[in-house]
Amino acid sequence: MKVNDSFGPGPYKANDRRYDTMQFRRCGNSGILMPLISLGLWHNFGHTNDLETGRGLLRCAFDNGITHFDLANNYGPPYGAAEENFGRIFKDDFKPYRDELLISSKAGWDMWPGPYGNFGSRKYLVASLDQSLKRMGLDYVDIFYHHRPDPDTPLEETMGALHHLVQRGKALYAGISQYPADLTAKAAKIMKDLGTPLLIHQPRYNMLDRWVEDGLLGELEKQGMGSIAFSPLEQGILTNKYLGGIPKDSRALKDGRYLKEAQITPEVLKKVEQLNTIAKNRGQSLAQMAIAWLLKDERISTVLVGVSKQEQLLDNLEALKNIKFSEAELKNINTVLG
Ligand SMILES: NC(=O)c1ccc[n+]([C@@H]2O[C@H](COP(=O)([O-])OP(=O)(O)OC[C@H]3O[C@@H](n4cnc5c(N)ncnc54)[C@H](OP(=O)(O)O)[C@@H]3O)[C@@H](O)[C@H]2O)c1
Repeated sequence: MKVNDSFGPGPYKANDRRYDTMQFRRCGNSGILMPLISLGLWHNFGHTNDLETGRGLLRCAFDNGITHFDLANNYGPPYGAAEENFGRIFKDDFKPYRDELLISSKAGWDMWPGPYGNFGSRKYLVASLDQSLKRMGLDYVDIFYHHRPDPDTPLEETMGALHHLVQRGKALYAGISQYPADLTAKAAKIMKDLGTPLLIHQPRYNMLDRWVEDGLLGELEKQGMGSIAFSPLEQGILTNKYLGGIPKDSRALKDGRYLKEAQITPEVLKKVEQLNTIAKNRGQSLAQMAIAWLLKDERISTVLVGVSKQEQLLDNLEALKNIKFSEAELKNINTVLG
């Protein structure tokens, strides 16, 4: 594993050995291979963050074979900032490597004022992807997602917009995020009929949030779609970082937008402590075990981590050394998870 210690926008030459250790998995029935670990830019890439730290994270990721960077229109803060910062770093560092990268964006949550900057209309999705491409300085994204189901817009309209964007070459593939199993089946049918099969689903999935096991993963397999599990570490709770108190530089204290201190309850920490012991017995950190636990299921094409430090990314990458579990380990984990 390689730390990237060359900071600043100076010339970046990617590690020649970047593909030595990364493992790749086919995304559903498609032609796309995903690295088993992908990097998300939801946090740590806003205008409130240090651009050079973000540059180091992206370089470290690519130097270790992570070929997939995941964004969305509203990642920041403020909205759009992560795409702008990614665009700057892309221009300085990654342009020569564009064809080695899978870059995704999304629209579906609140983005701009008024009735056309949210949810799932064709008006919103088409305008939003145009804005994202400008911010990132890209001609196309590899995957464009509808970020969440919209109860009011006809599914045909939302899927039609994704199909249209792929047809226009603005996105190579289309995906959906957080759609339940029944809606996923309907969306997949519409897209197959249009001739743009959905590549991938991006659900929230980790040891403490297992909703996808109740129908969604089976549906994805049936449809030949891949999946990318987001918040695999429950925003950092599924690591050993909160076991000795709440560190000052942690997401829970630094950025209370999504992970609240109140979520880190004694009951949660008791589970984390027990899982940490199981991880230690496997010779892994808890973060590594949490990632491996997702990857044991071949229906998970890749695990989408967020990191605030390169050391975290390197820790997470070590998970790939052991993604198999014995029956006894799985039983113990299930007992803890309840
Ligand atoms: N589709 C959607 O609706 C949706 C929603 C949310 C996220 N996402 C995607 O999923 C990506 C990942 O989400 P996430 O950031 O919540 O993922 P996560 O991997 O569950 O949590 C990331 C946080 O965990 C901590 N961490 C990571 N590795 C660690 C390690 N080895 N040791 C100790 N702490 C570690 C860091 O926290 P500290 O900052 O405290 O150091 C890091 O910021 C996002 O960037 C985004 O691309 C998608």
